[in-house]
Amino acid sequence: MSESRKAELHYDGKKYEIPVTVGSENEHALDISKLRSESGLITIDRGFKNTGSTKSAITFLNGEEGILRYRGYSIEELAEKSNFLEVSYLLIYGELPSKTQLDDFVNEITSHTLVHEDVKAILDGFPSRSHPMGVLSSLVSSLTAFYPKSLDPNRSLDEINGTIIRLIAKLPTLAAWSFKNRMRQPIMYPKNKLNYTSNFLHMMFGLPTTETEINPVIASALDKLLILHADHEQNCSAATVRIVGSSHASLYASISAGIAALWGPLHGGANQAVIEMLEEMKDSGGDVEKYISRAKDKNDSFRLMGFGHRVYKNFDPRATIIKKAADDVLDQLGIKDPVLDLAKKLEEVVLKDEYFKTRGLYPNVDFYSGIIYRALGIPTDMFTVMFALGRLPGWIAQWKEMRETTEPIGRPRQVYTGENLRSYSDINKR
Ligand code: MLT
Repeated sequence: MSESRKAELHYDGKKYEIPVTVGSENEHALDISKLRSESGLITIDRGFKNTGSTKSAITFLNGEEGILRYRGYSIEELAEKSNFLEVSYLLIYGELPSKTQLDDFVNEITSHTLVHEDVKAILDGFPSRSHPMGVLSSLVSSLTAFYPKSLDPNRSLDEINGTIIRLIAKLPTLAAWSFKNRMRQPIMYPKNKLNYTSNFLHMMFGLPTTETEINPVIASALDKLLILHADHEQNCSAATVRIVGSSHASLYASISAGIAALWGPLHGGANQAVIEMLEEMKDSGGDVEKYISRAKDKNDSFRLMGFGHRVYKNFDPRATIIKKAADDVLDQLGIKDPVLDLAKKLEEVVLKDEYFKTRGLYPNVDFYSGIIYRALGIPTDMFTVMFALGRLPGWIAQWKEMRETTEPIGRPRQVYTGENLRSYSDINKR
């Protein structure tokens, strides 16, 4: 990256030179790391929409052109040719693995899928109405109790790698057990002869006694969904993982925080909100046009969930791939579901409507992922848990990069807008 470019800031009769950093995809950024010390000025950018928090070599996305690449590989190619654990290896270690490296990685993960039996005591403490995301965030944080060496993020690379492997191996188990707690059903232990995605589905729903494997259509669709959710540069939850990790909190604590951030309906909770919106539409008679009108009515708080994106201006490249996967899964499984029929009708109307087209409100990844999860029999309040399962390698890669580049502790500034200095007054005189 070239850093010889400079910008000039003229303020209050003075001129300041600001270095410009240029990334490998020709993104230009004003480096303001010395701005306050040289000028007394800071910048403000609510939601950091125009502010880069770091330099990163993990994921590149271009919102205008609908490009998303993991370590330089397009998600289109990875979704078609790779699998989730190979993509996880790529994101975390930076290169596609050799066959030996992938076999070792998969074998390591397979041998760590079990969790300590005491986790069940923690799980039993959660009421059945507990949202699986809250349970999952707590269970991930509890891993520090069973693996206290993970508390120190500055241990040897081998020990850090062991912490990473354990988390990738155990998250599906913890996620499935969070679901079983929700259903007040007995937990299912991992069957390590199954692959990663199938093992998760087995722990969720059990392996059909007459079958030796999970339906390959379902397992393949889920593996593709996990790939497409694996990372998304500095989204809310990844930024959370990095800032928590910047205090030298453990990987497990940082990922637990990332799960909490993803839980929000404006982030990972959007896929759950999409299906809840469609179910409300169905229960109120399925009049799509009524909801389209409400979405356009400035006096109506109703908004279409699963449409548009903060970063992608014209289309979400993940949605394009997932839409086809959704059609394939519904066709291959022969699923007839009025909610899914409603989703297709809503998609058709919105894609033709100039009001939504001019506002970049097209179906995004959350619109279609909820449709597939529902078709796979995954309950609505587990949808965001599925997002977390997919996003885990991205979070780990972001945390690892932040540690390896010895990023300083994150500590944003502010502009104070409160009261000026005033004296304490006696309570009887207020
Ligand atoms: C994501 O994949 O994290 C979501 O699309 C949100 C985002 O990138 O801001």
